[in-house]
Amino acid sequence: MANGIETGTRPVNFRKVGIVGCGFVGSASAFALMQSGLFSEMVLIDVDRDRAEGEALDIAHGMPLASPANIYAGDYADIADAGIVIITAGANQKPGETRLDLVSKNVSIFKSIVPQITHSGFDGILLVVSNPVDILTYVALKLSGLPANRVIGSGTVLDTARFKYVLGEHLGVDPRNVHARIVGEHGDSEIAIWSLANVSGIPIDVFSRLRGREHSAETMTKIENDVKNSAYEIIEKKHATYYGIAMSVKRICEAIVRDEKPILPVSNLMEGEYGISDIALSMPAVVGAEGIEYKVPAPFSDDEQARLRASAEVLKSVIEKLDL
Ligand SMILES: NC(=O)c1ccc[n+]([C@@H]2O[C@H](COP(=O)([O-])OP(=O)(O)OC[C@H]3O[C@@H](n4cnc5c(N)ncnc54)[C@H](O)[C@@H]3O)[C@@H](O)[C@H]2O)c1
Repeated sequence: MANGIETGTRPVNFRKVGIVGCGFVGSASAFALMQSGLFSEMVLIDVDRDRAEGEALDIAHGMPLASPANIYAGDYADIADAGIVIITAGANQKPGETRLDLVSKNVSIFKSIVPQITHSGFDGILLVVSNPVDILTYVALKLSGLPANRVIGSGTVLDTARFKYVLGEHLGVDPRNVHARIVGEHGDSEIAIWSLANVSGIPIDVFSRLRGREHSAETMTKIENDVKNSAYEIIEKKHATYYGIAMSVKRICEAIVRDEKPILPVSNLMEGEYGISDIALSMPAVVGAEGIEYKVPAPFSDDEQARLRASAEVLKSVIEKLDL
């Protein structure tokens, strides 16, 4: 049952969400989720208890203008029966830093957080957002002992939204009609899947021609680089990114709570797909009440598959150095 109190044998309440980490990303996600009306109970946790209390109060004050919900600062015991726990705790990128630069700080934060989540008796779906998200999804999977389908990273859902936005602007079309994806690492080795990109079923090169827009190799490279570098640009200008990721978190939660089964490029454990295993990578998957319900074996081009394996190598080299 997607919305009820029980899913299979697990006593979880899918109308209850926990958010660990109430900085820019955690609070923006909480705000987006409050407005969505998806949850009737929201628990905010942060090492900085005042921060969690302040955000809970501020967000709760908007609630009478949206949908009723119980929003409060809590402890790990409060999230024992939550359907979803979202981890946004940890250091964020400073100007010039890559996501992989955050790994040692954030792995040690996860070593303190994840055992507290599982010791509470939590048996729902863990949604990892902190960066580097693919590495931390793998770390959360190993530390939690939860089944792989229930440990999900927000992955390249945000990058894919950015890609659709930029393509929508370039092509003069509603980005919701653009079907295009970024996969691989949520980071510098991410890959735009041009071979499958289309606008309402029309291949993107054909649509570009019809619309009188440029579709040269240079244009595609520029669009791909703009998407990849957009976090750096935003961080340079306003020191953090949070609204886009908050909407991505909301989209993933909708998919789970409503058992919608969209295909989202979330980070999940690779088990031999494209010859890649034992790392988490952002790949298209059907997402529903059970978390990752089906990994979509998309027919990427040979070049895209080669780039995917190179992206996997980047992540593997980081994971090999971790002491888990
Ligand atoms: N996946 C994505 O697409 C995406 C997008 C944007 C940011 N991020 C990542 O999200 C993370 C948070 O970014 P931010 O801008 O909100 O940072 P922030 O510094 O504003 O917030 C981090 C919060 O985590 C809390 N925290 C630290 N250690 C903790 C612990 N042990 N237990 C509980 N709380 C703890 C801090 O007190 C702080 O409130 C970063 O790693 C950032 O890179 C991911």
